[in-house]
Amino acid sequence: MDMNGTEVLPGISYKRLYEAILETVPFSIFILDANLKVLEANRNFLKKSRQHAKDVLGRRIEEVFPRVFSESTDLIGKVQNSFSDGDCVREGKLTYKAPGIAATVYYYLVIPLLEEGARPSLVMLLLEDITEKERLGAEVRSAWRHWASAVESVTDIIFSATPDGTIQTWNKAAEEISGYKPRALRGIKVMSLCVDESEVEKMERAFRALALGAPQRDLQIDLRDSKGQRLPVSWSFSALRDDTGHLSGIVAVGRDLTERKRMEAQLIQTAKMAAMGVMAGGIAHEIRNPLAVSSSAAQLLLDDHGDGQFRKEAAQKIYTNIAQASRIIENLLRFARPSSGAFEVFPLEASLDEIVSLVSNQLILSQITLVKRYGKQSLRVRGIKNLLQQVFLNITLNAVNAMREGGGELLVATRCKTGGERRSVLVSFTDQGCGIPRENLSRIFDPFFTTQPVGQGTGLGLSVSYSIVKQMGGCIHVTSEVGSGSTFEVELPLEP
Ligand SMILES: Nc1ncnc2c1ncn2[C@@H]1O[C@H](COP(=O)(O)OP(=O)(O)O)[C@@H](O)[C@H]1O
Ligand SMILES: [Mg+2]
Repeated sequence: MDMNGTEVLPGISYKRLYEAILETVPFSIFILDANLKVLEANRNFLKKSRQHAKDVLGRRIEEVFPRVFSESTDLIGKVQNSFSDGDCVREGKLTYKAPGIAATVYYYLVIPLLEEGARPSLVMLLLEDITEKERLGAEVRSAWRHWASAVESVTDIIFSATPDGTIQTWNKAAEEISGYKPRALRGIKVMSLCVDESEVEKMERAFRALALGAPQRDLQIDLRDSKGQRLPVSWSFSALRDDTGHLSGIVAVGRDLTERKRMEAQLIQTAKMAAMGVMAGGIAHEIRNPLAVSSSAAQLLLDDHGDGQFRKEAAQKIYTNIAQASRIIENLLRFARPSSGAFEVFPLEASLDEIVSLVSNQLILSQITLVKRYGKQSLRVRGIKNLLQQVFLNITLNAVNAMREGGGELLVATRCKTGGERRSVLVSFTDQGCGIPRENLSRIFDPFFTTQPVGQGTGLGLSVSYSIVKQMGGCIHVTSEVGSGSTFEVELPLEP
């Protein structure tokens, strides 16, 4: 049956198609007869082996291949089997190593071309050099193994997710820290692990910014662990992009802040105790005063025998003074307690007053006049009240220190800042103290930086204040002039 002239597609004969395929495929094809003579060898082979068709066609296959190749592989045997038994090899793989040359890996096929019912009279041999593919495959596998073992052995949380936050992988550290098994998280959005709505918002904002190309580093977003506990985590997010630059996924690395938070809380408590030590003298005085007043009023009551109006006034005096003393003690105790760490919305001015009342005596003793300039409207802020009061106290005590020689005026002012995209409140403390030399300005927030004599300053006040305010999404600005005074301004997000 001659099909050479038959058209397989309009205008294309079998022969043309056959030749075209043979000449363009990127592997070597041979047609061999039963004497293993080469009847056909395609262009790929001639090119790779740098031989001419006339030197190849009609020669036996083992003469066409390098001798070492024929001797070191059993390819020829496979071809012979194919003639004798009609064996067919579909997915052969062989490695050929000539002396002094790197090993080459081939994928091969031996296909007997059967005439109906008869023994094969021709065999097609196909060889493809897959050395490079194998090398790449091995490289990819090894890179993947390295990467996977790194991801599994780090102590940080690492997860990958689709751009909408659906979790794809979740490493061992993530499992250990959060308590969630990767299996349980399949198809779940990472936002659903955030501890509350505001954290969900932060995560979504970070993902959106990442999609627009803004790097996202050191963001604290807290999760809820499998036991329902708050898990503070500092995150860095990176974008995975496909070849067109499109965001195809997100990789997140998160550091568990639990231990750091615990240390921070301890430091805050230490600084608080130090501040209380500084205040103790003033507070004792503060309490002794109303007690003395009450005591003498009580004495008068004991002595007096008749006048009802007089007795009433004395009792009233005792009552208000004791109330005053117990208010001070209450304020002090509330302040001394370690903070619960819970965010709440509270009136700013009232909590400032509580703190200022604790130091009012100290101010009088240091000949400092307190001037309050609060805004018309009472402001409400969101934060951890107890910690924020500690900030106010630290700054106030620093101002008292700075005005130790000669006293002066301490101005405490609050105002609302509406410019910009976020509304905030500003609480400023302006003293007329010694001021801060320029070279110290950048160091006053460093832990343990102090210019106070040994035994008096801890150098913790401002560093602790800074971390507290930062935790509440705010910041502290300082301006100062040596000899005339300083202003510390605390900026906090305003509760809408
Ligand atoms: N209002 C201020 N006026 C002048 N110097 C200040 C003022 N507040 C802070 N400082 C400087 O910053 C340093 C660090 O303050 P702080 O962290 O509170 O530690 P400490 O009060 O224990 O020294 C102080 O020692 C002082 O030098
Ligand atoms: Mg201080």
